Amino acid sequence: MKQELISIQRYVGMEARKFPQATGEFTALMTEIVLTAKVISSQVNKAGLIEILGKTGETNIQGEEVRKLDEYANDLFLHILKYSGHVCAMASEEAEELVQGPHYSNSGKYVVLLDPLDGSSNIDANVSIGSIFAIYKRVSPAGQPGELRDFLQPGKDMIAGGYIIYGSSTMMVYSTGQGVHGFTLDPSVGTFLLSHPNITLPSKCNIYSVNEGYFHRWHEGVRHFVDHCKGSGPEPLEKPLSARYIGSMVADFHRNLLYGGIFMYPGTINAPLGKLRLMYEANPMAFLLENAGGYASNGYEPILEVNPSELHERTPLFMGNRDEVLQLEDFVKRYNPELVESYFANKDNGKAIAT
Ligand code: AHG
Ligand code: MN
Ligand code: MN
Repeated sequence: MKQELISIQRYVGMEARKFPQATGEFTALMTEIVLTAKVISSQVNKAGLIEILGKTGETNIQGEEVRKLDEYANDLFLHILKYSGHVCAMASEEAEELVQGPHYSNSGKYVVLLDPLDGSSNIDANVSIGSIFAIYKRVSPAGQPGELRDFLQPGKDMIAGGYIIYGSSTMMVYSTGQGVHGFTLDPSVGTFLLSHPNITLPSKCNIYSVNEGYFHRWHEGVRHFVDHCKGSGPEPLEKPLSARYIGSMVADFHRNLLYGGIFMYPGTINAPLGKLRLMYEANPMAFLLENAGGYASNGYEPILEVNPSELHERTPLFMGNRDEVLQLEDFVKRYNPELVESYFANKDNGKAIAT
């Protein structure tokens, strides 16, 4: 046989054994996430066949339409993790409040944050979607239900983060801070197999990904930077980058991770903090990127340094090749110094970020 077959469970176990104090609880938790991913993957593949498509007519707490597959993925993740015994509480983009488990889960060491289905507006169009997870160690004492403070930790304290992409194949990509590893689901045996060990971001940034429909609603620094990517504006790149935007962050991220690129979701005049959620979307992706040699910023400072103030907080997001993201920060500093000043002034006052 040319290459050894390594299942994701074996790989997670191998990594955990490097820590002498590991109890096997993290490996068991990852096994539950893998199981959930496989079930969601099979449902996503059947989405066009069974009557699962279409809107439910309800809105989530972000005021967005919820589709049936969102609900399904949310319920499944929460249900499986709730009864695993390894998680003392969970938070989901689709749930207003923290979700706590039965009494035996109070001994769980971890909390999990979820975007159960990312890119859900793409389901009907058969376009790639994903699930995102972030795992932290609880900071509250064991033996009681998890609390808000267990979740309001900066991204840099994450124990593990990752995503599942339901695309031309289903892949799971995760990091525990020891590199970024990708596994492809072999549906015939129902196992994720190591296919992309030690993913590192290509050194060259080839792609920029942003919804340019909002161009005129961005502040000057971002507008000039996007023009720069296109080889136009006051500081044009000599050779323009390619534009690629799917509208499913997981899919846009995954492509840029493999090909080299920068993904942006800036704040706008109408929505100064943008659309994406710090805890469910930005932090896990930032954690992966930094482990793959890239960088993620809110335009002012590293995403992973931000101290969250509430569960469903939104953040502007710029992530990809380090040099390009640093350049974006530099554009913002030079073209919008007033924003940088107010950001850090608000931060010193302990307020939510400004743009
Ligand atoms: P979700 O489906 O979890 O609500 O996330 C959708 C997000 C993200 O996946 C994507 O990058 C972004 O919405 C696209 O938004 P625009 O349509 O405004 O570009
Ligand atoms: Mn999302
Ligand atoms: Mn979602």
